[in-house]
Amino acid sequence: MNVRLSAIISKLIYHIHDVVEEFNVSEDELLKAIDFLTEVGKNGEYHLLSDVLGVSVNVNNLTHGLHESNSTAHNVEGPLYREGAPLVDHEASLYEGDEKGNILVVSGQVRTSDNKPVTNAIVDVWQADHKGDYENQDPNQADYNFRRKIKTDENGYYKLKTVIPGPYRISKDGAVGKMLKAIGRHDWRPAHIHFKVEGEGYEPLTTMVFIENDPWIDNDAIGAVKDSLILKVNECNDSDKIEDVGLEAPFFEAEYDFVLTSTKAPITQR
Ligand code: BEZ
Ligand code: FE
Repeated sequence: MNVRLSAIISKLIYHIHDVVEEFNVSEDELLKAIDFLTEVGKNGEYHLLSDVLGVSVNVNNLTHGLHESNSTAHNVEGPLYREGAPLVDHEASLYEGDEKGNILVVSGQVRTSDNKPVTNAIVDVWQADHKGDYENQDPNQADYNFRRKIKTDENGYYKLKTVIPGPYRISKDGAVGKMLKAIGRHDWRPAHIHFKVEGEGYEPLTTMVFIENDPWIDNDAIGAVKDSLILKVNECNDSDKIEDVGLEAPFFEAEYDFVLTSTKAPITQR
């Protein structure tokens, strides 16, 4: 018998009965709830359900909350990561050709909390375009658009050119989206950029940074915003810098360091 599972299920049953009794749930309402869960399953939306109920963020915080407080905060991966993004050395444009939207250059260092650079770390980055659409949900975008793996240089530095992503609407017409509408909740996420950062000898970091001043920043549908993950974006009018990044007009820039923690030594048994 799985003792932990048994304890969790017992507690869940206790709380479900509590709700049923408190609200005197009718048979009709129960059938609607069962239909809803069936629809969630058919659409493959259980992960999304866990996200909008705040369970994914809660479990992520419980899992990673014990890291050194001065390392970068973890966050949920979300359902839109793809393996296999093109690998680029040090500096990457996340798109080819032209893209609409405000150009944003993000640079920084992958390092430890005592300022040691992490050389050859892989910064795997993915985001939506300026309209808030991810490449794999939008037939108008090229394969792996706004997805790159960037290898840090000998001083741990990376630099990426992208556009400021738009806020993301998580589900317009699925079962979860309909449920949110029925209970008067919106389904928007503030504009964000996802990162997975890996360096040899360090705990892998999955996180996301949020574009400051986004209209949804205080009201994320999955409750994932953390102050330390807000990206401060400034407009750059300096002509030398504009030329340096190969542009002809002012652009936006931001700096963000990723602070990793060492891999924990395995607990040896006496
Ligand atoms: C996202 O980060 O894009 C995302 C996260 C949770 C649910 C849906 C989308
Ligand atoms: Fe996302």
